[in-house]
Amino acid sequence: ENGKMNVAIDGPAGAGKSTVARLVAESLAYIYVDTGAMYRAVTLHMLRKGISPEDVPEVLQETQKLVIDLQPDPDGQKVFCNGEDVTSEIRSREVTGIVSRYAQIEGLRTQLVDTQRQMALRKGVVMDGRDIGTTVLPDAEVKIFMTASVEERALRRFKELDPSEGLTLQQLERDIATRDKLDESREISPLRCAEDATVLDTTKMSIHEVVDKIVSYCTMVRGEIGL
Ligand code: CDP
Ligand code: CDP
Repeated sequence: ENGKMNVAIDGPAGAGKSTVARLVAESLAYIYVDTGAMYRAVTLHMLRKGISPEDVPEVLQETQKLVIDLQPDPDGQKVFCNGEDVTSEIRSREVTGIVSRYAQIEGLRTQLVDTQRQMALRKGVVMDGRDIGTTVLPDAEVKIFMTASVEERALRRFKELDPSEGLTLQQLERDIATRDKLDESREISPLRCAEDATVLDTTKMSIHEVVDKIVSYCTMVRGEIGL
């Protein structure tokens, strides 16, 4: 064993998962895996090919041919799909608006979950998503369920926007609430807090405070299990 653990971070959109997970990984010298980016990359590919979420056999067949690669980068993480850098395109409103529909497809989830488990086999991974603590890595040594009020989450996303996109805070709040609802109500591994996860409400916390809290928690757990 290499003395490393796996850290699972789940929660709704805008809770701060990816920002925090990346910084926690940096602090622990672990690898960061953004599973949302994988669902987004698949979605972008299907939109380009004109395959709708209802065309399940086509979706599954196309997904099998996709090679999604996540690479660490000084300003975040780069996402490659069949060798093409799709880092910015997967964040478009078009992808964001429909990704949860593709993410409901059972066979698609099986394929991505398989890849995600492979990535975590050697431990030392901080993985964020919706079903990491419940389904992908049920044995993760550290499980965090990160939340924040929907108003705060919409505001955080609003601040990231380019004003030229012309989206209002109300629109964003509605978009986020709709996506949360789809993610929470789907049949296959819905967004849900694992029984053994630690809940962290970040509504009034800064990024730095959240990162510190999780890193200290990881240090404590590592001591407890004697790694
Ligand atoms: O960053 P944001 O919270 O907006 O979303 P994301 O983490 O990039 O995830 C985009 C979508 O992918 C989610 O709304 C889910 O529908 C889906 N997803 C999932 O089903 N399971 C995961 N482990 C990660 C994302
Ligand atoms: O990955 P997820 O959708 O959960 O959220 P994110 O993309 O990491 O965070 C959404 C935005 O909120 C980012 O611009 C973060 O910088 C910001 N944020 C914040 O202001 N305070 C926090 N405690 C966490 C994130």
